[in-house]
Amino acid sequence: MKEKKTVASVGSIIFDLAVSTPRVPNTGENILARAFKMGPGGKGANASAAIAKLGAESILVGSVGDDNFGQTELQALKSVGVRVDSVKIDQDEPTGTAIIMVDDNGENTILVVIGANATLTPDEAKGALDSWWEKLDAIQVNFEIPESVVAAIIEEAKRNGVPVILDAGPPRSYAKETWSKATIISPNRLETESLVGRSISTEDDLVRAAKEILDSGPEAVVLKRGGEGSLICTSQGTVSVPAFKVETVDTTGAGDAFTGALTVGTAEGMTLEEAVRFASAAGALAVTRFGTMPAMPTRAEVVRFLSSHSRI
Ligand code: RIB
Repeated sequence: MKEKKTVASVGSIIFDLAVSTPRVPNTGENILARAFKMGPGGKGANASAAIAKLGAESILVGSVGDDNFGQTELQALKSVGVRVDSVKIDQDEPTGTAIIMVDDNGENTILVVIGANATLTPDEAKGALDSWWEKLDAIQVNFEIPESVVAAIIEEAKRNGVPVILDAGPPRSYAKETWSKATIISPNRLETESLVGRSISTEDDLVRAAKEILDSGPEAVVLKRGGEGSLICTSQGTVSVPAFKVETVDTTGAGDAFTGALTVGTAEGMTLEEAVRFASAAGALAVTRFGTMPAMPTRAEVVRFLSSHSRI
């Protein structure tokens, strides 16, 4: 067993209000949902919880409002071992919230009210990590916070020689100068379309887009393709890592479990293929559970899962 690694996350903290529903209603429709569940979420918070549960020292930098949702988030993060002393408590904006609909196929539709996440500044985020840089083995960021913060953190990570893993969600348009400097960039199909600025219809086109992203600067592109598995693109070529077959309950947060595990794997010095397989197992376990942060698997669960599934 490797020594404990130190990993930081700079990202969103969002309180999730989720319903499971037979389908997403059409405009003007009123349909009966099956169940309601609220709980802690947000891409950055979910991944930082996964990182702690997978056995690394996990530091989260982000922003919540001075309200009950913010306190619940911080409590939930602390309870799994995430260090939240660097999380800003904003006095003006409420904690971010998400309205999530999960249909009978486990697929989600999400509406985000960004709230306090939008108030985080580059100086605040960099300042929060001042005393951590030389201890960090890896850092992960996502785009549910201001792009200026993402850009500043990637620059700073580079300057300090810390590998930076960028989860390219949510899918919007971002400046190439921001994302191209990440060490590893991990988009899903929609996020890939946003990064290259065109729609993608075939598998060949997806691979072409991944190569385009790679050519702009990162060391690796790890495409998340859900049930289709992952695709690793580096200067050495393209490697496909198959998905694990599991019963899908809720795909929300699976990408965050994947990013958290990919970051831990990178911090621990796994090969990229090993880290992606580790991440695929974490993502697969997350889709078997309803909810987001509470769905993040532990190290023991991932190890057990991997030992019961044959090698790629
Ligand atoms: O990736 C899942 C997360 O995205 C949810 O927890 C929700 O908060 C949205 O931000």
